[in-house]
Amino acid sequence: MTVWDVGGVTTYGGTGSNTTAMMLARENIAPGTMHQGVSDATRMHIVVPAGIGHYSVKSALGWIGCGGRIIEVPTRGYRYDLAALERTLRQRQGEIMAVVAYTGDSRTHTVENLRAVHDLTRAVDPRIWLHADACWDLMCAFAPELAPKLAGIEDFDSVTVDPHKVMDIPYAMSALLVRDPASLRLVSSYSGLIMQEDFAFGQSPRSSAPRNGPPSSCGR
Ligand SMILES: Cc1ncc(COP(=O)(O)O)c(C=O)c1O
Repeated sequence: MTVWDVGGVTTYGGTGSNTTAMMLARENIAPGTMHQGVSDATRMHIVVPAGIGHYSVKSALGWIGCGGRIIEVPTRGYRYDLAALERTLRQRQGEIMAVVAYTGDSRTHTVENLRAVHDLTRAVDPRIWLHADACWDLMCAFAPELAPKLAGIEDFDSVTVDPHKVMDIPYAMSALLVRDPASLRLVSSYSGLIMQEDFAFGQSPRSSAPRNGPPSSCGR
C-alpha cells in the first residue's frame, strides 16, 4: 500500500476541500489544464442548488481560473427539484463540469436525495464530476439510524467532511475523500526535492541534499 491508495487528502477547512474538489472536476473535464491553463472555460460551469449553496464553491471557481460559472437550479424542500435539474443538465450539456449536492447545507441542514441526483446526472452525462459537500452530515455515517440518509454518497466522485464542525475538534481539520484514489493524481505535482518516495516522512531539503552541496534543482 502507498499514499496513493488512501483515497483522500486533509485540508485546512471545507473551503480548501471544496476547492480541491473543483480542481479535480476541472482536470477531469479538461486534463492538463493544471499545466497549460484554462483554454475553454465555457465547459467549466458548476451546478448548485439555488439559495442553499455555500459560497466556497463559487470562490473556488474563481481561484482555479474558471470564472464565476455557477448555474443555480431551483429546489423543493431545500433539495434539488429533480425535474429542473434534469432540464438544466440536458439544456447545458457539454458546459457542465460538476454537480454539487449538500449533505447538510449550512442553513437548513437538509440532506440531499443523493441517490437520485447521482442517477440522474450519470444518465445525462457520465463525465460530470459529482461532489457532495458533506461538511456537516457525513457524521451520520457513525449512527446506524442516520446512516441511511447518506445512501448514494458512495458513488459520488468526491466528498468533503469537516471534523472541525461537528466533532468538536479544536483546530481546523477537513478532508476531501475521493471515490477513486487514483483521481488525486489529476492535481498532484512532483518535486524531486523532498518527494523522492511515497512515505518521505521527516525528510527535509537539507537531509535530501547531496553531501557535497545543495540540491542542483529546486522544485523539479
Ligand atoms: C456546507 C458548508 N460547506 C463549506 C463550508 C466551509 O467550511 P470552512 O469554514 O471550514 O472553510 C461551510 C462552513 O460553514 C459549510 O457550512
